[in-house]
Amino acid sequence: MKGIILAGGHGTRLRPMTLVTSKQLLPVYDRPMIFFPINTLIQAGIKDILIIVAPDRAGDFLRVLGSGKNWGVKFTYEIQDKPSGLPEAFIIGSDFIDQDSVTMILGDNIVLGREEEVRRAITTFTRGNRVFATKVSDPGRFGVIEFDKNHQVKSIEEKPLRPKSDYIIMGLYIFDNQVVQIAKSLIPSARGELEITDILKVYLSRQELDVKLFSGEWFDTGTPDSLLRASNYVADHQRDQNT
Ligand code: DAU
Repeated sequence: MKGIILAGGHGTRLRPMTLVTSKQLLPVYDRPMIFFPINTLIQAGIKDILIIVAPDRAGDFLRVLGSGKNWGVKFTYEIQDKPSGLPEAFIIGSDFIDQDSVTMILGDNIVLGREEEVRRAITTFTRGNRVFATKVSDPGRFGVIEFDKNHQVKSIEEKPLRPKSDYIIMGLYIFDNQVVQIAKSLIPSARGELEITDILKVYLSRQELDVKLFSGEWFDTGTPDSLLRASNYVADHQRDQNT
């Protein structure tokens, strides 16, 4: 199992903070944001990790993260010239993935608690696509997943105006090797991006989509408010652990 952390993009919603550096290097309480997704992959036993970054910030990532030796893993870097969609990670990373399966986590996603569940979901994975769903109060900002009364997936929609459920798909995805070919076959959506939800729909149509409900804490730190909420949560959590 290979690991990818997608940490490119312009971070426009976090300006002017992101004039300083990449969003994924901004602090979440006491450490750079990207330390959290790195930990999620390492806790799941992944040792070979590709970090995809924006061209103008590559030096900052190398300076902060280096080779991975300090973490006991190997980091490889690739540049994404412009943010044209999450699936591009599998095209940019196709040589790195080679014939293996791959777990991708978004560099601004923080997954806390239930580490054993996440680890098991990754280590027991054999084929298809496994994703994590969680309930949120503002589903329209995310990829929304709807279940029927037998808990089977009924629909998946990216940022719908009228969400059909409160369950969204977290930015932590496990794929078998088919993902590379599927990513290469996608066409951009109406907003001009390749959509990760279009990959999930292909796996759904092949009856190879497996959804795990996640009951730990999950944060997408893409806006100033969500970044502050994540920082406050991490601070409280660490204080609790130290008392
Ligand atoms: O956080 C989970 C959500 O992530 C999912 O529910 C959605 O289905 C998925 O599309 C994605 O939505 P976001 O609106 O959060 O995606 P965003 O464009 O903010 O990109 C997420 C991260 O990936 C962000 O840290 C920037 C980085 N990124 C994004 C794009 C589009 C790249 O590195 N390259 C890209 O081309």
